[in-house]
Amino acid sequence: MSDPKTVFSVRELKRHIGEDVALHGWLDNKRSSGKIAFLQVRSGAGVVQAVAGRNDVSEAAWADIERATQESTLWVAGKVKEDKRSPSGVEIQLTDLKVVHLTQDYPITPKEHGTAFLMENRHLWLRSSKQRSALRVRSEVEQAIRDFFYERDFTLIDSPILTPAACEGTSTLFETDYFGDKAYLSQSGQLYLEPAAAALGKVYCFGPTFRAEKSKTRRHLMEFWMVEPEVAFLEFEGLTQLAQEFVVYLVGRVLDRAKEELKILERDTAKLEAVVPPFPRITYTQAVEILNAEGNPIQWGDDFGADEETIVASRYDRPVMVTHFPAAFKAFYMQPSPDSELGRETVLGLDIIAPEGYGEIIGGSQRIHDHDLLLDRIRHHNLPIEAFQWYLDVRKYGSFPHSGFGMGIERFVAWMSGVSHLRETIPYPRMLYKIYP
Ligand code: 4AD
Ligand code: MG
Repeated sequence: MSDPKTVFSVRELKRHIGEDVALHGWLDNKRSSGKIAFLQVRSGAGVVQAVAGRNDVSEAAWADIERATQESTLWVAGKVKEDKRSPSGVEIQLTDLKVVHLTQDYPITPKEHGTAFLMENRHLWLRSSKQRSALRVRSEVEQAIRDFFYERDFTLIDSPILTPAACEGTSTLFETDYFGDKAYLSQSGQLYLEPAAAALGKVYCFGPTFRAEKSKTRRHLMEFWMVEPEVAFLEFEGLTQLAQEFVVYLVGRVLDRAKEELKILERDTAKLEAVVPPFPRITYTQAVEILNAEGNPIQWGDDFGADEETIVASRYDRPVMVTHFPAAFKAFYMQPSPDSELGRETVLGLDIIAPEGYGEIIGGSQRIHDHDLLLDRIRHHNLPIEAFQWYLDVRKYGSFPHSGFGMGIERFVAWMSGVSHLRETIPYPRMLYKIYP
């Protein structure tokens, strides 16, 4: 027999049908009758079944098969056989096996565990099949985001994490000392994108953002990743088109390239296939009317909470765009609507609410481009003008209408994966009062 070819992932095996291979991995699960053993071996981002008859391997190999425990590290060698029914498309007929490291008392067993316990062991929980699948979906979404903007000639602008000023309100800032001055972890890269849009036209940033949200919900993380495009001369209508095109593109990519993962996650993909343009669109005022008609007591001027979002979204089978919010509870930089009623000022803001109760996935707006109006709003919001001088400069030297939005990718991945809590969409979630592991 020739030397087996070493491979590094189950996903490579399909290219080696009929050949002898060797690979390292971990034992996911094992079944043995004493004469024949079935081992689920995890290697790379896949799992393959390895089958050994007692008489097909050496005494030493069979002894190792017998003593191998869940999550032991293994070296296996054998012949690759096609198996159309298995997710990997192949099976390995074992000729040899060694236990490289014997695991004792692995805490996460195939029985059910409570979430608190799993979260304490997040570093190990990552190895479980649904967790691996959700992280694969996340990885696909991140790649698709970069492809979407690359294909449309956007320039990636890496915005800073340490910032001297607030973007999304002062109540959720993480503060830190910056050589005797105050600095804050970034809530959004938007303020830094706007000057970059004057330099490069179509720009986006994609990185971690931080909010000290004292809310313990399944939709809030203290640290989450946000992708934010910003486009010079794009006005509100164009913004709604860009956001819709973006969502449709990402859903399509997940359906196309994460089939196996969605199956493991038991995601009903028909729900995702329904996500085609045009998305329904209502104003905030219409949303309030809908909510009141459904018995929700919200009054014009109140912000939506999770309940309101869920009620509005449940009327549609695809994401719904809500526009023209009251200026009073939206960010200082949003452009006033031209048709605002006196006493009921609204802004050209856009929220996209996902179906099935996943909540607001996108928030965006056209930005104020008039210098004096913006200055007025900064004052009105009691923000420190010194910290915003550079931001006001964008309106001083060649001002231009522009728009952008932000999407929290954990909410998007939760929706794609069908997992109800954001903690399963990011490798190491940062939650209220919890920063371990
Ligand atoms: O609506 P938000 O606060 O908008 C902004 O930050 C703008 N500066 C974006 C822009 O126009 N460039 O946040 C945008 C999105 C939300 O729609 C939501 O998906 C997500 O970020 N998000 C969170 N995700 C997880 N945990 C949190 N605590 C989140 N807060 C916002
Ligand atoms: Mg928002």
